[in-house]
Order: sequence, then structure tokens, then C-alpha cells
Amino acid sequence: MNNEQHTPHSPSAATQAPNVGAEASPGFRAPAEPPRLSAGTGNPAQHAAWREVDGYFNDAFLSEDAALVEARRSGTNTTMPGAEIARNQGAFLSMLTQISGARRVLEFGTLAGYSTICFARAVGERGAVTTLELSPENAEVARANFVRAGVEARVRVLLGPAAESAQHLIDQAVEPFDLVFIDADKPNNPKYLAAALELTRPGAVIVIDNVVRGGAVIEPGSVDPAVLGVRQVVSDIADDDRLEAVALQAVGEKGWDGLVVARRR
Ligand SMILES: C[S@@+](CC[C@H](N)C(=O)[O-])C[C@H]1O[C@@H](n2cnc3c(N)ncnc32)[C@H](O)[C@@H]1O
Repeated sequence: MNNEQHTPHSPSAATQAPNVGAEASPGFRAPAEPPRLSAGTGNPAQHAAWREVDGYFNDAFLSEDAALVEARRSGTNTTMPGAEIARNQGAFLSMLTQISGARRVLEFGTLAGYSTICFARAVGERGAVTTLELSPENAEVARANFVRAGVEARVRVLLGPAAESAQHLIDQAVEPFDLVFIDADKPNNPKYLAAALELTRPGAVIVIDNVVRGGAVIEPGSVDPAVLGVRQVVSDIADDDRLEAVALQAVGEKGWDGLVVARRR
């Protein structure tokens, strides 16, 4: 069912992140042995600081209503508890949707519907979100959350392997999407990008989540299928003249990760 063994948003073993927060200064001495680059979320003190800083800004800028709180809480009833995007990242995706004027959003990976609700609210009453999910249990949890959030009329859940659902949309020649969010099984990222290119128009935005993976994305010799899926999609974007892209690392309550934002020229 779910091929993804790594829980991308959950803290893993407390491994030392390389030089996070370290600044080159006259008093700074590089260690004799550079720290081994390994996937992690920073040591516990770093993680606590990231969480507190997220809390500071989230308290200042964001308010999560009861429906979003429940969408996060009910993630515990899915196959990947805790794998939904962070609160500020959900708000960022909402803002990106609104800034870009997106009305039609396609999402790979629904879980309990937290990010879906962010998109559904951002596209407005006349907009629509299609979200692709493999797990029937997750889809059921998500559907209840869409009703609670009052967005069920503008959300369509397609159950099954996302690559097949996306091919179905291509075969049906559906109206192009304005924004695509890729957040399902990472080994299939290249397939999802290829489908997104078939399903979007020039000017569309494509966002890919969990591309940093605690630094593992540049770990030499990695055989982690998720890392390889991220590297391949990065290479595909770099080689595609139709796309321009930027990657943003992020640290916060969910640890150390990041996303790629690409735009179709
Ligand atoms: C990281 S979670 C999605 C989180 C969600 N986007 C959010 O932020 O609230 C990944 C989801 O992708 C789903 N998934 C994994 N492999 C899939 C596949 N081959 N096709 C469709 N969905 C898949 C998992 O069941 C899980 O619900």
C-alpha cells in the first residue's frame, strides 16, 4: 500500500545537523572531522528552538480554526500520523495559491486533508481541488474533515495509486490545473512531475514537499528511494526548459526539510 517507509515530517533519531546556526566568526574553529552529514532534525536543543520560534511567529500571524485543528489531530487515525504539513507551511501554500490566483489545484497525497483544506479555502467558492490518495482509510478521514471545514463541495478525492489517477485525468483531458502540490510517495516524484506537466498550463505553479529530508538529499552514496526520487525530480526540473524553480530549506516544529517551488514558463 504505502511504499513510503520514512515519515517525512516526524522527528527521527536525534542526529547532529551539520552546522545549523553555526556562523563563520573569528572564534569559530572547524572540527578536525567535519560532522557526518546525516538525515535528521537537529539535536533536541536545536529542535526545541525551532519549535519555539515557529510558535512565536504562528501565534503572531496565524489562527488555526477548529476544522484545521481536527484535520491535524485526526492524522493519528491515518496510515502516516504526523505527516501533514506544518501550520505555517499550510498558510504559506494558501498564500501562494492566492498570490498566483490559482483556481484549480491538483494535490498528490491527501492524508487527513490538512493541506487540501488550505488549498480549498484559498481557491474560493468558485475554485476546485482534486486530491489523489492511495489509502481508503486516509480518504475517509479526509472526507470527514472536508465536511467539517465546509469545503466538501469543492474537493474531489480520487482514490488509488496517484500515478494511475493522474493518467486518468490526462486521458480525460480535464481543464488544466493552475497549481500542483506533490506530497505523496517520494520515489514517484519524477512520475508526478511528468503528469503535472501534462495537466497544467504555462504560468502554473508546481510545489514539491520534503526535498531536503534532514540534509539526506546530498548524502553521498544514498540508496534511500525517497532521496533518489527527490534527486531525480530535481534533475528533471533542471533539464526542462519549460520550468524555472527555486528550493527553500526550512527548519521548524517539523524538523529540517524544505520544498521546491517551480513555475511553468
Ligand atoms: C505526506 S502525506 C500527505 C500530507 C498532506 N499533503 C498534508 O500535508 O496534509 C502522504 C500521503 O500520500 C499517500 N500516498 C503514498 N503513496 C501514494 C500513492 N502511490 N498514490 C497516492 N497516494 C499515496 C499516503 O497514503 C499519505 O496519505
